[in-house]
Amino acid sequence: TNPNFVKIVEVGPRDGLQNEPKPIPPPIKAELINRLAIAGMRNIEAGSFVSPKWVPQMAGTAEVLALIDSFPKTGYSVLVPNQKGLDDLLEILSTSTSPNSHAKPPPPVTEVAIFTSATDAFSLANTNVSVSGSLERLAPVARRALDAGLKVRGYVSVVVTCPFSGRVDPRRVRDVSRELAQMGCYEVSLGDTTGAGTPASILGMLEEVAKEVDIGILAGHFHDTNGTATANIMTALDFGLRTFDASVGGLGGCPYSPGATGNVATEDVIYALTGDRLFGDISEPYGNHGKPAKTVQSRWDVGPVDLARLAEIGEWISGVLGRETTSRAGKALLAR
Ligand code: HMG
Ligand code: MG
Repeated sequence: TNPNFVKIVEVGPRDGLQNEPKPIPPPIKAELINRLAIAGMRNIEAGSFVSPKWVPQMAGTAEVLALIDSFPKTGYSVLVPNQKGLDDLLEILSTSTSPNSHAKPPPPVTEVAIFTSATDAFSLANTNVSVSGSLERLAPVARRALDAGLKVRGYVSVVVTCPFSGRVDPRRVRDVSRELAQMGCYEVSLGDTTGAGTPASILGMLEEVAKEVDIGILAGHFHDTNGTATANIMTALDFGLRTFDASVGGLGGCPYSPGATGNVATEDVIYALTGDRLFGDISEPYGNHGKPAKTVQSRWDVGPVDLARLAEIGEWISGVLGRETTSRAGKALLAR
């Protein structure tokens, strides 16, 4: 494995769209997911099977899954809060694999994401149960998903601040992350839900979590409310994390985190990690040696992502939602 490889998990179709005031038709969501796969995104969170009373915007996920094309190199995941969400997903996966030769191929979902929180107040607001109650609820969900051959990813929300109880003790984040890992999560994504994190607070939190959880399984899920998400990612990279969540166009926010904005824009992350490659080498001689200096290039590898395509997707989906992309790199690229 390449130590410089950075896995980006595109969460725009789920985290990005779950908070939209107007319903978005499933064909638009499916188009978004298909375009992201074509742009080279290898990990896409396609939607969620949660209560439509709690998050109406995700009600059409089954339809979305039926409409997405299978790009064999891309893995798709779905967020589930409980046994019912997993049952609904498993039913779709099994009915479309029935031995009827005319059946559609199964939706290409290989992974579920389960989620809990570092504080009781947020957990209650988001899923109507305390943190320990949610871990009890999720353990059998994880087990059944693993038995069904799905990978399981875990999220911990409010790893820096909680909109209801303020600054969060990193030891809570550590303990909840450890529990998710023990449940069989191959990856634990640390959610700065409010986007309050700074490089210093993210580093402090990671140092605590790393006392009990292998950093190789940790991911960063940073909302960009204060414009610090890219800096937080660079800090987490230095600390050893190699997986980050992002939303094309900077879409999104959590319905139960008032005032918080979207995830860090995928375009901004890709640019920060590899953008120097857009500019080629230094061509003008300088000084009296006659040779141009060597350009310094980023060492990070994000796979075959097409940044120009991503910028177009971010602009397109933002336009569908009636606004501008919030991705700075996306805007700059489109203006070039
Ligand atoms: P509850 O009201 O306690 O659940 O909600 P319940 O079991 O009493 O069920 C109530 C009703 O919901 C019943 O229907 C159930 O059938 C139905 P009724 O009998 O009243 O007609 N129901 C469901 N329907 C569809 N799919 C389901 C499901 N489960 C129950 N899976 C519950 C508890 C967990 C269901 C609810 O609180 C919920 O769905 N919460 C989800 C909230 C959510 O999706 N939040 C956003 C995602 S998390 C996030 O954004 C953070 C993250 O990005 C990381 C970060 O940034 O921090 C991941
Ligand atoms: Mg989130």
